[in-house]
Amino acid sequence: MNNKLIDRVKKGFFEEFNSNPFLIFSPGRINIIGEHTDYNDGFVFPSAVDKGIVAAFEKSNSTSSKAIALDLDESFEFEVDSIAPQKEQLWANYILGVIDELKKKGNHIKNFNLVFSGDIPNGAGMSSSAALENSVVFGLNELFELGLSKEEMIFISQKAEHNYVGVQCGIMDQYASMFGLKDQALHLDCRSIEATPFKIDLGDYQLLLINTNVKHTLSESAYNNRREVCERISSLLKVTALRDVSELDLFAIKDKVSDEDFQKALFVIQENKRTIEASKAMTNGDLNRLGELIYASHHGLQHQYQVSCKELDFLVDVTRDKDYLLGARMMGGGFGGCTINLIKTSEINSFSQYIKEAYFHKFNIQCSIYDVTLSDGTHQL
Ligand code: GLA
Repeated sequence: MNNKLIDRVKKGFFEEFNSNPFLIFSPGRINIIGEHTDYNDGFVFPSAVDKGIVAAFEKSNSTSSKAIALDLDESFEFEVDSIAPQKEQLWANYILGVIDELKKKGNHIKNFNLVFSGDIPNGAGMSSSAALENSVVFGLNELFELGLSKEEMIFISQKAEHNYVGVQCGIMDQYASMFGLKDQALHLDCRSIEATPFKIDLGDYQLLLINTNVKHTLSESAYNNRREVCERISSLLKVTALRDVSELDLFAIKDKVSDEDFQKALFVIQENKRTIEASKAMTNGDLNRLGELIYASHHGLQHQYQVSCKELDFLVDVTRDKDYLLGARMMGGGFGGCTINLIKTSEINSFSQYIKEAYFHKFNIQCSIYDVTLSDGTHQL
């Protein structure tokens, strides 16, 4: 837990409101494998991490609310009873969206003050958005004693993202952030919303993130477009979601869809299978197999689903001839952010040095490297 972050938020709150609020920590997430499977009712394998958002809450004694984003040095004032999506201060939509969904479900919310700050690197694909949404829904649930379950809260966060932010995301990020468990990854069935926790003990190996430090534009519309393709093909196949079909089923309608869309659906079906197999590899301690699945996931995301980018591909490609690296792939929605790597712990220092130089040489951009600490989900501090 980042104590500096907690102090910063406490101090920021005190300076503005002259009082001591209660604090929520809500983490970002990694995902070992299972990308773009969540909105296809499939399996994912994420975990919460020790980086996240600290948010401070207090009821307001005025007729308005104020939210302060310390990292942006911006504030936003609103009245809970009259909110609407914002076009300028986009960050406010993560907060307003949660309020709107809570209200739609009949929860009574009054005005409140909120100050937050985070240490999830921007655009890293580690889901700072779910962390913020979850911190808000969790904080308001406490503040106004709404009595919501964690499961109800994650669906409110997800709907906020759909309706106020405009990204038709699945449930992986909100689930991982809310339900994360220390030292464990969650093999989640996104249809039943039931997860099997796996204690992550990788022996001589560990997970390492490398951030491209790029975020290409249009990633949101591309994301929504992928979801639309999956839904179109599901309805052609007369199923609820691609999770319900096999590769054979898909081949039966091959001439009814474009080659590109066929490949996208094929990717989802195969990625879902890989995610199930990854849990078996983990159970058997078969890290070589896990690594192969991770590489295959990247290959599909790059060539079939087409959500990678040259910076991510480069970071994956340079790992291929290193025998101390068992697997690497892009992580999250795509078009930038991090790769996740399964690497021998003893080689991390020299590899980090190497990759930093190679990446800078290629793109004239510094990449960032983060250790991964698997941590508990959203909670009050
Ligand atoms: C984003 C979305 C998730 C999921 C991933 C891709 O992070 O928010 O719901 O679809 O992309 O796996």
